[in-house]
Amino acid sequence: MVDIRAELKDFAAAFNEELCQYFPMPQGPEKRVVEAMEYSVLNGGKRIRPFLVKETAKLFDVPLKQSIRVGAALEMLHVYSLIHDDLPAMDNDDLRRGKPTCHKQFDEATAILAGDALLTYAFEILSHKNTHPDAKIRCQLVQLLAQAAGGFRGMVAGQMLDLLAENMAATQNSEELIYKIEEMKTGRLLRFAIEAGAVLGEADLDAHNALMLYARKIGLTFQISDDILDVEGDQALVGKTLHKDEAQNKLTFVALYGLQGAKDLARKLTDEAKEALAIFGSKAQTLADLAEFIISRNK
Ligand code: IPE
Ligand code: IPE
Ligand code: MG
Ligand code: MG
Ligand code: MG
Repeated sequence: MVDIRAELKDFAAAFNEELCQYFPMPQGPEKRVVEAMEYSVLNGGKRIRPFLVKETAKLFDVPLKQSIRVGAALEMLHVYSLIHDDLPAMDNDDLRRGKPTCHKQFDEATAILAGDALLTYAFEILSHKNTHPDAKIRCQLVQLLAQAAGGFRGMVAGQMLDLLAENMAATQNSEELIYKIEEMKTGRLLRFAIEAGAVLGEADLDAHNALMLYARKIGLTFQISDDILDVEGDQALVGKTLHKDEAQNKLTFVALYGLQGAKDLARKLTDEAKEALAIFGSKAQTLADLAEFIISRNK
């Protein structure tokens, strides 16, 4: 296995330099919202979603410039979801990526606006002609991201269920509910990363289906490992307040299956994710390594 940790770190450094160019500072006092956007976007982050766009697109020899722009759009939207997730009305978190959350560093209203602006910025970036010369492909990307992020089985729908599931005692349909929550709140944006790579590369049906299967498996594993880190992570590495899920009675895989049960499930899903890549042969080695990174990550 190549050193995927080192590869991700190098990618994040290069990607961050690229991202700096996305925040021209306005002159007037309204620049406060851009400062809040920039603060939240440039403050750390593993950049797994843009890395996934880049690596999937690479299977089809897509120019790096295109996949990086799609990755930037997705990262803007992801950071909006984090800013709003941390708000007092939602998870009420003070720490994100090792720094004060956006509403702590600025104020609640500014954090709401910064999230709104990052959400719309994602679509501005995607629809720009530099993202892809073919308007049909750009339109497809816009539609897919809107569906992945939205209130009809997208990230927002997952967040709604996540909030409703708080304080819900384990009931018979908890298992069904947890899959639904985790697939939507986390899985859909990760899936978009992979689907976007396939769209940019105009993948055939077999390749597309294999990638969607991989996406589903790593998406679930990603949230399972997030839930595990909340219980037994190192706060200095994770950069978020830990033990929040139990305190807020969140319905998580750990709450349902226990730590070991959640780990066993993550192992099974990771093996299945790697099997799904078989049709790409050694070309998909980095995606396979990334699946191993996701299950073993410490932040
Ligand atoms: C955190 O995502 C939110 C979840 C969907 C679990 P990441 O773990 O990718 O957070 P960053 O971007 O690296 O900070
Ligand atoms: C939220 O899941 C995922 C999002 C859509 C932002 P969590 O609430 O578990 O994410 P963290 O642990 O705060 O990053
Ligand atoms: Mg949450
Ligand atoms: Mg949270
Ligand atoms: Mg969490």
